[in-house]
Amino acid sequence: MGGRYRRRRVRGSPILGLVGRTVALVGVRRIGPGDESEVLALMRALWGHTTLEDDVEPVEVWVWADDDGSLTGFASASLRAWAEGCESRPAPFLEGWFVAEHHRGRGIGAALVGAVEDWARSLGHTDLGSDTWLDNDLGRRAHAALGFEEVERVIRYRKPLA
Ligand SMILES: CC(C)(COP(=O)(O)OP(=O)(O)OC[C@H]1O[C@@H](n2cnc3c(N)ncnc32)[C@H](O)[C@@H]1OP(=O)(O)O)[C@@H](O)C(=O)NCCC(=O)NCCS
Repeated sequence: MGGRYRRRRVRGSPILGLVGRTVALVGVRRIGPGDESEVLALMRALWGHTTLEDDVEPVEVWVWADDDGSLTGFASASLRAWAEGCESRPAPFLEGWFVAEHHRGRGIGAALVGAVEDWARSLGHTDLGSDTWLDNDLGRRAHAALGFEEVERVIRYRKPLA
């Protein structure tokens, strides 16, 4: 993949690209057979652990397939019973959102969130919840750029029970 391609903004629907001698889908699609190990690696890069196998609630997963066939980003979403600041009940919630570092700034993250929004709209929901860590400036800027409004800050506690 050349530098010019890396800087190209990618928006909208998936396009067809050549991968070796075969034609592959370039863009956002649902996770599919054979994607799991690459998606787990992306999840580990975001959280330090995976959720595909741990999550209690059913999670929907979308991936970004690049022009060489590799997966360079994912978004996952669930329907939570409710989410802070959201009118929808249940509330569609952006659980995970990650693009590999060298592929950022091309519109991949926005395309992944667009797919989550389409899914939530198709279920009749009127808003989408999300969260990030207080010290994640990049995550906060990217959320704001895509139209997310900050609704609350929380401190989470744990008390060990001896
Ligand atoms: C957040 C993340 C997924 C964005 O992916 P991306 O492919 O770089 O995002 P895009 O290129 O589609 O940019 C999305 C919007 O965020 C803005 N943005 C992206 N990086 C930015 C930065 N460093 N500074 C300011 N704005 C930024 C873009 O300008 C864009 O807004 P626009 O559509 O108005 O131009 C990616 O940076 C990432 O994986 N970060 C680490 C994990 C993380 O923080 N996840 C989110 C919280 S869990």
